[in-house]
Amino acid sequence: MIHINFERLKNNIETLSKIGAEENHAISRMAFSQADMEAREWLKKQILEANLELYIDGAANIFGKTNANSQKPSILIGSHLDTVPLGGHLDGSLGVLVGLECLQRIREENIQTEYPLEMVSFTDEEGRFGGLFGSQSLCGEITPDFLYRAADLNGLSLLDAMKNCGLNAFDSLHARRNPQTIHSYLELHIEQGPVLDSLGIPSGIVEGISGLFKWNLKIHGFPNHAGTTPMPMRKDAFMGLAEFANEIPRILEEDGSENSVATIGRVNLIPGSANTVPGIAEFTIDVRDPNMEVLKSLEHAIRKSLSAIVRRRDLKYEFDIISEVIPANCAPEIIQCIADTSDDLGIKVHRMVSGAIHDAQIMSKITKVGMIFVPSIGGKSHSAAEWTAWEDIEIGANLALNSLLKMAKILH
Ligand code: GLV
Ligand code: MN
Ligand code: MN
Repeated sequence: MIHINFERLKNNIETLSKIGAEENHAISRMAFSQADMEAREWLKKQILEANLELYIDGAANIFGKTNANSQKPSILIGSHLDTVPLGGHLDGSLGVLVGLECLQRIREENIQTEYPLEMVSFTDEEGRFGGLFGSQSLCGEITPDFLYRAADLNGLSLLDAMKNCGLNAFDSLHARRNPQTIHSYLELHIEQGPVLDSLGIPSGIVEGISGLFKWNLKIHGFPNHAGTTPMPMRKDAFMGLAEFANEIPRILEEDGSENSVATIGRVNLIPGSANTVPGIAEFTIDVRDPNMEVLKSLEHAIRKSLSAIVRRRDLKYEFDIISEVIPANCAPEIIQCIADTSDDLGIKVHRMVSGAIHDAQIMSKITKVGMIFVPSIGGKSHSAAEWTAWEDIEIGANLALNSLLKMAKILH
């Protein structure tokens, strides 16, 4: 058993959390923003200083590798550096920095492993441009058509966002990696939910990861004078949205499972004036469940509900798919390896499902994946209130390091 250098990891977490910092500890480091580019430069420097082989693929995924000359497939460990707007300092960043720390410690101890190790920071896990661009590129899922269409919610295209950073989005088509060069993928992440914190257990072993569909919807009515248009004669797009929003708990209850969740996270009313009946209600919906069949029935129920509402109110609706991610399972042998390691280290663990999506989920299409969770205090994430106790970070990082070594088979 070896241990991580906790002071170094803590210092790296604190340093990285200053990049993209806003007021009140929030961080805005969306993919290809200036802060994201700054964080990438900082990470590249750390990788070089750790004497790892640095390389960057066409999707701007950043890697640091040991045993650069080995012909064997690599074990990857990592996560993402980008954040949601006004997000927290651990979502993604912790997994990348733990990956870096693990490889640094293995180097320092001069441990030779049968399989080479690579730490990875994936691009745009948070889906600013739809999907999980970095891991999807690596898995060969990005198409030219996606590159032409991808844009953020403010209409900035992926092509322009990458161009502004001196990058060419079409290079991502060359980021596809031969699955035979990858042995497996391990990701440590904050839970982002309340389960571990409420149980008082320091580490989670993920068994399955929820899938999702994320849509951008528009309800069309007719903009008209707020004072002169009698209530029965309005085509109020917002009233259609409000009625639909009110239906969501019923839809989840009737067509979902106990794990189903749905969120309307962004709303824009057009023309957006206090004295005009809204002509267009534009909004997003994000729906998740670990079971594909359940996701399908939720999709069906949502469309049925919207159709009934717009018909009755003489409105219309349309939607674009922002992202669809299928649910995934972690590999039983990696689950077992993490469980054995936690026994060796005397760490109490809880087996669980992930409600958040992760790069591990995409990677599961081409390789065996495993995930370790650490508790999120109060279950808070995607907000500045995101926090994990330092002791739990240390325990989780040690579990990741020793699980990685078990997976990679120490030679001497
Ligand atoms: C990513 O954090 C997601 O689950 O949306
Ligand atoms: Mn994340
Ligand atoms: Mn996130």
